[in-house]
Amino acid sequence: MAEGKQMNCPNSSETEAADSGSCEKPTRQLTRRDFLIRSNAGAVAVGVLSGAGFAAGLAEAQTAAAQRAAATVVPTGLTTRRVSLDIDGKKHDVTVDVRESLWETMNYQLGLANSNMGCDRAQCGACTVLVDGRAVNGCTLLTARHGRGQKILTVAGIAMGPGPQGLHPAQRAFWLEGGFQCGICTRGFVMSSYALLQKNKNPSTSEIKEALAGNICRCGEYPKILSAVRKAAAELRGEKVTYTAPLITVQPMQPSSAPAGTGISKQFEFVTALGTIEQFDDLALEMKNKTGILGVAGTERTITPTWDPARVDEAGVRRILSESGHPVR
Ligand code: FES
Ligand code: FES
Repeated sequence: MAEGKQMNCPNSSETEAADSGSCEKPTRQLTRRDFLIRSNAGAVAVGVLSGAGFAAGLAEAQTAAAQRAAATVVPTGLTTRRVSLDIDGKKHDVTVDVRESLWETMNYQLGLANSNMGCDRAQCGACTVLVDGRAVNGCTLLTARHGRGQKILTVAGIAMGPGPQGLHPAQRAFWLEGGFQCGICTRGFVMSSYALLQKNKNPSTSEIKEALAGNICRCGEYPKILSAVRKAAAELRGEKVTYTAPLITVQPMQPSSAPAGTGISKQFEFVTALGTIEQFDDLALEMKNKTGILGVAGTERTITPTWDPARVDEAGVRRILSESGHPVR
């Protein structure tokens, strides 16, 4: 407190100003303790006081506290950091905001849509990735802390080879067992299952439930999810596994006039497009059993059969499609 002379002032609480010689009340600087005391007092008294006087005092105290806070905060200037991320075995050098989540960096900065966003608050597991083998929520990891050699693994990095045959058993099992409906949760479940199966290839039901406890499926596909993990584990143990849905691979597209003896391919458009790609899979299976059909590829809108011209002609292929209930133009 500033010192002042008191002997010439009539009121003992006043001091004589050094420059003017007049008496004035000393101004007491508000401390953090004053502010807290007044705030607490306000919380108690707010129900009984009219509020005007107290509110003014509180506002004054708050302003003073804010000014002191502003004066004492030392800006560090540290809002970004350069990191080198190891994602699926590939290095990514990137500058990130220190508040940025791994999911945000992967999606917004690196264009890696390898994990889904569900809740964005560590509750659903849709964003699950592995960091050094541990399943974690990418939505709540700070990227700035993951540029020191940690190995980040996403669902795009666990396949063992190209095409459907190259999928990791956990991926294949979720697909062919139907362990999903809308699919929002699926990548997260696959990664949590992968983490489990890396350590335990023969998990009990309770061990599977424990490993997947951080993942939520809002579509409620839990029975099929459990079945998928069990079958993936069996496949990893080298057992023969039969999935609910057969694995269908489509033939690569052939040129429209293949050399004699290797078949002829032509793309047709369905008169009425199929409802789903699964419907196409069923049709493809049916077609492959017909005489002269060598292979089938296509989508919900088009079909490209390959046929042996020695056994069936284009009119015959059209007739087969018509008889199956899917005429083509
Ligand atoms: S999106 Fe990360 S836990 Fe839900
Ligand atoms: S399949 Fe929709 S949330 Fe799991």
